[in-house]
Amino acid sequence: MKLGYLISIILSITITVYVLSSLYTPQTEVRNGATTLYGEVLLPLPKKMTAISTEESILLRKSIREWADVPLTIDHLSMILWAAQGVVEEYYGWLRRSSPSAGATYPLEIYVVVGNESVLLKSNEYLQAGIYKYDYKRHSIKLVEVGDKRTLLWDASLNQDWVRDAPVNIVICAVYERTTSRYGERGIRYVILEAGHVGQNIYLMSTSLGLGTVAIGAFYDDEVAKVISAAKNEKPIYIFPIGVPLTPHKMTFEKLQDIYNRLRK
Ligand SMILES: Cc1cc2nc3c(=O)[nH]c(=O)nc-3n(C[C@H](O)[C@H](O)[C@H](O)COP(=O)(O)O)c2cc1C
Repeated sequence: MKLGYLISIILSITITVYVLSSLYTPQTEVRNGATTLYGEVLLPLPKKMTAISTEESILLRKSIREWADVPLTIDHLSMILWAAQGVVEEYYGWLRRSSPSAGATYPLEIYVVVGNESVLLKSNEYLQAGIYKYDYKRHSIKLVEVGDKRTLLWDASLNQDWVRDAPVNIVICAVYERTTSRYGERGIRYVILEAGHVGQNIYLMSTSLGLGTVAIGAFYDDEVAKVISAAKNEKPIYIFPIGVPLTPHKMTFEKLQDIYNRLRK
């Protein structure tokens, strides 16, 4: 009788421990290079993906406002976010990033607005539509809100159709005090200059990947902040809709040389 009682106690403890431990074990799911972990998407790690040279990318860069009805891939999103704010070196414990930063104060935060069926994970499987925040250290995006918020972003961006129609929009936010606490008022200039560096990286990486983008500066700051659920000190300063261009832009160095030769006459 006593032994039976003991066994039943041991059994119930074992079952309880098993159930609790399974509840607290991180549930990961690997989907074609993107791993989801409780609303966090570990992006495929950055790698060499394009054969295009820097000079070709600069030559072919153009603001694109019309999109083919084609999603981005998770590799595209990974490379664009890495180009924007990813890590490029670990230097005595300091994680240097893809864009320069005044005094390495890194005042920018990156949000991603993902539409329905807009980022392909594998055939017929898409990243959940929503607002995500980029984590540069983990090269991951973390779900902030679920749902396709592109129409709200379009409304907040003076109804510029290329915002609503792009599969993905990147929103760059500034946390001014990270830089002004060191440089005072001049820090405001530095933060805005940095957004420009990030923006050009987004343009060039998009171009190299056969994608397109356009810098958006015209929008209602507070409305955009609301759409992306930004923290109070995160001020939206730039938006980059990204998609596959409806008409790929073509240009060659031969044509460019003709232009210069005419200009020199
Ligand atoms: C700070 C800034 C703000 C801009 N804002 C907008 C905008 O709100 N909407 C838009 O369609 N284009 C915007 N643009 C893109 C410019 O219209 C575009 O860069 C310009 O026409 C030159 O064309 P290109 O980029 O193809 O060389 C902006 C560009 C910059 C640099």
